Amino acid sequence: MDIRIFKNEAEIGKAAGQLFCDAVKENPSCVLGLATGATPVPTYNYITKAYADGKVSFKNVSTFNLDEYCDLPKTHKNSYYTFMHEQLFNSLDIKEENVHFLDGNAEDTEEECARYDAEINNAGGIDVQLLGIGNNAHIGFNEPADEFTVGSFKVKLTDSTINANKIYFDEGAMPHYALTMGIEQIMRAKKIVLIATGEKKAEAIKNMVEGEVTPQVPASILQNHKDVVIFLDEAAASLLNK
Ligand code: GLP
Repeated sequence: MDIRIFKNEAEIGKAAGQLFCDAVKENPSCVLGLATGATPVPTYNYITKAYADGKVSFKNVSTFNLDEYCDLPKTHKNSYYTFMHEQLFNSLDIKEENVHFLDGNAEDTEEECARYDAEINNAGGIDVQLLGIGNNAHIGFNEPADEFTVGSFKVKLTDSTINANKIYFDEGAMPHYALTMGIEQIMRAKKIVLIATGEKKAEAIKNMVEGEVTPQVPASILQNHKDVVIFLDEAAASLLNK
């Protein structure tokens, strides 16, 4: 694993943002896998500024987001669809038809997951996948489990994840289910960039990097990926063996 430690989240945003801009400049029709949460915000700020400064264009780029809540209207203020448009897509020249999400309101979730997986395959797979990490080392919404998951599926969120994310919702309004890409599917991305900041993530990072590869620590699977880069601030890296 290529682990790089930065002073603060702004520096990570710069490094990760630049990596994505370089990938787009190198291949203007590349396919990006994107993540939500507070951690990628500085990365998205860097990318929108680079676009505004005329340094990069997203007009032929396609994106696939990792996950989406179930039973939340698509344009709800807390949907990942809304988050991504506000944080990134509305400020870029990306085409709306090239922006892809799982539909958390689909009646037949199995069919919806199969549709999404097929769409990723038809696009030629993901070139660069951005990941955050949950306090329990989940990636996307792949919670600790008995087996590594394969393709997209419907997941019941754990108490740890609900507690970490409920602050964004009105009292009691956070959904308890989501649709997410599966682990094997995430691992098929040609390159993976995981970013983590803050002390809250230090234990998950230690287990991911130094622990055994186990579905109880979903992110530990990244030890088996041949092109993964991990950007951490000092707090998130603080439990790693030096
Ligand atoms: C959610 C998302 C993950 C994200 C995680 C951490 O669970 N589904 O993709 O990595 O939150 O979020 P944050 O960056 O806000 O800590």
